[in-house]
Amino acid sequence: MVELLPSILSSDFAHLADEVAAAERGGGTVIHVDVMDGHFVPNITLGPPVVKKLRKATKLPLDCHLMIDNPNEFIPAFAEAGANWVSVHYEACPHLHRTLELIIHHGMKPGVVLNPATRVDLIADILPMLHHVLIMSVNPGFGGQEFIPFSLDKIRQLAEMRSVKGLAFKIEVDGGIAHDTIARVVQAGAELLVAGNAVFGSGAAEEDTRSLLAAARQAAGEA
Ligand code: DX5
Ligand code: ZN
Repeated sequence: MVELLPSILSSDFAHLADEVAAAERGGGTVIHVDVMDGHFVPNITLGPPVVKKLRKATKLPLDCHLMIDNPNEFIPAFAEAGANWVSVHYEACPHLHRTLELIIHHGMKPGVVLNPATRVDLIADILPMLHHVLIMSVNPGFGGQEFIPFSLDKIRQLAEMRSVKGLAFKIEVDGGIAHDTIARVVQAGAELLVAGNAVFGSGAAEEDTRSLLAAARQAAGEA
């Protein structure tokens, strides 16, 4: 089943609870939360205190995408704040296995994120530990960027690895997901579809979530 994950990065932060509620009414099932530290990526967003408030504003799972150096230092704080899924960048984790164990130890679902230039086969050995793999289809740091087409090959490759190894992790895609790209990523094998600008960019989060999800379901043959 495909799922639409509204990314609050492009929402009106002054009305965050209302924005999330609108996206939920439109069919969003997991809230994607972009955490940026100004070091790993050239932008700063939010941290555990905002996640803690968001936790009270919605019952949906919170998918925290950590675009930060030294994620190990902050994993306990995100657990305490109420994060449900936590994904860390392959490029930020010299001891990735240890980091994933830390996420699991804190009762959260672990994911690994791959930048556009990072090869899918680098994570082959730790795939059995993962709840999800996030393929970045833009370089992380900003909303509203253009989709990078070779991400589709990476999604296909990952889906093939999953099937050959008989694993159940989910394939998430993030960056440039909109009406002109969503069918292609679904057909390539992604089922968790993150969208920021396409959901919150025009001020009609409910309607825009609903129409994107409909397009994704149609592409998946679920409509
Ligand atoms: C980018 C973030 C994305 C961002 C996607 O670094 O990880 O989650 O919100 O935004 P759009 O959907 O606008 O490309
Ligand atoms: Zn993200």
